[in-house]
Amino acid sequence: MDNRPIGVFDSGLGGLTAVKEILEIMPHENIVYFGDTGRVPYGSRSRETILRYGKQDAAFLKSMDVKMVIAACGTVSSVAGDLGKGFGIPYTGVVRPTAAAAVRATGNGKIGVIGTTATIRSGSYRGAIAELDPNIAVFDRDCPLFVPLVENGFIADDEIVTRLVAERYLAPLREAGVDTLILGCTHYPIIRNIISQVMGGHVTLIDSGRETALACRETLKTQDLLCERAQEGECSFFVSDRPEGFARIAEIFLGRSIKRDVSHVEIELY
Ligand code: DGL
Repeated sequence: MDNRPIGVFDSGLGGLTAVKEILEIMPHENIVYFGDTGRVPYGSRSRETILRYGKQDAAFLKSMDVKMVIAACGTVSSVAGDLGKGFGIPYTGVVRPTAAAAVRATGNGKIGVIGTTATIRSGSYRGAIAELDPNIAVFDRDCPLFVPLVENGFIADDEIVTRLVAERYLAPLREAGVDTLILGCTHYPIIRNIISQVMGGHVTLIDSGRETALACRETLKTQDLLCERAQEGECSFFVSDRPEGFARIAEIFLGRSIKRDVSHVEIELY
């Protein structure tokens, strides 16, 4: 039993898709969330920069005495696979649990992967899927405009701009006949309805936030680190840019109100 919080980070709002799932499946856990809103997006940056950012984000969370760190960011998880080495507390990224769920879900052996440019370039999902089943065909595509669209609130199901961009990006995956599509960036579940409309209802969408939350519960359970608390857990939110405005958008994503103030972190100090 361990009542310390779970630490979750992302470059911005995307990791909230993992927080939402954690709150649903482990409602008594406390969570510390860090969104690197001052340096988003990560996905178009170099490997070295992403590594440095990921290390700083994790160091901040560790300074908050968390019991586990989750890189709820496809980009950091892809580029810095061994980020958790030497942490002394459990760590997970999103790639492995998400790839495993996709392999379980596919019927025709054709899996699509969408993510940031850095994620797709790293080949992380291809590698993880091949390890699990080398016979599966993987079709991947980077979708660099999705993150700015989400961060700027172009997320309504009938948002025409996002829909047009999605049609352009997803056309090759539709043509390839994938029956399963990995949303390899944690921002993407926020526009999952648009993605689903474009791909067609027969394509199973795999949400990296959900799969990672499930993997986190499994790790905490196996290591006897689940909390023992009767009341609902609390979430604390930290960002590296202006805190104003974050709470309002975060509440839309989480589908619940944020009770505590959002605080600013000088992330370059970590
Ligand atoms: N949500 C992130 C990911 O899963 C980061 C996207 C970005 O900052 O470019 O890749």
